[in-house]
Amino acid sequence: MPAPPKPKPKPDGDGVDCSKAKCIALTFDDGPVPSTSTLLPILRKHHVHATFFMLGNSVAAHPDIAAAVAKDGHAIGNHTMTHPQLTKLSNDEIASELDRAAAQIEKATGKRPTLVRPPYGAQNARVLSVLRSRGESSILWSVDTLDWKHRNPATTIKRALASSKPGGIILMHDIHPTSVQAVEGVITGLKERGFTFVTVDQLHR
Ligand code: NI
Repeated sequence: MPAPPKPKPKPDGDGVDCSKAKCIALTFDDGPVPSTSTLLPILRKHHVHATFFMLGNSVAAHPDIAAAVAKDGHAIGNHTMTHPQLTKLSNDEIASELDRAAAQIEKATGKRPTLVRPPYGAQNARVLSVLRSRGESSILWSVDTLDWKHRNPATTIKRALASSKPGGIILMHDIHPTSVQAVEGVITGLKERGFTFVTVDQLHR
């Protein structure tokens, strides 16, 4: 008889009630890229599910990495096709940016995203009404690590630990190896402070 498959360890955030637990969501923007593949085993080791806001162009370049993110059980959101400021586009152009990215994500992962992170956090009432009419929601962040700017793992960890509160959403970028290097410290530091990692959709449930 073949050995039964090893049960997968449950992610820490599974079944957690965020109205009672200290929940926090890690989010990664602008991938997937090769450094995303370095990040996945770190998240797996710590049983953490994160949320990845992917660029359609990056998914088209690395569909296998997008598929690996989905296979590990992370949530995937839409970060548009080409990273424009949505506030500067017409309604039709906004829809096209989101549709093209969603098509790439769906092709790679089998799932169409409904969470959207507008590039630069640039949104207004019109952008939000376009999203609403599409059945999509905008997800910004409450903790900005500025990882893309300083590219310093210690600073990323310090910023994440200093400003995280229950229900918080931490912004990082998996396209920078220095950000990936910070992830282990962010996770262990916040777990020591009693936080449970969940995906963004779990926060709002
Ligand atoms: Ni971005």
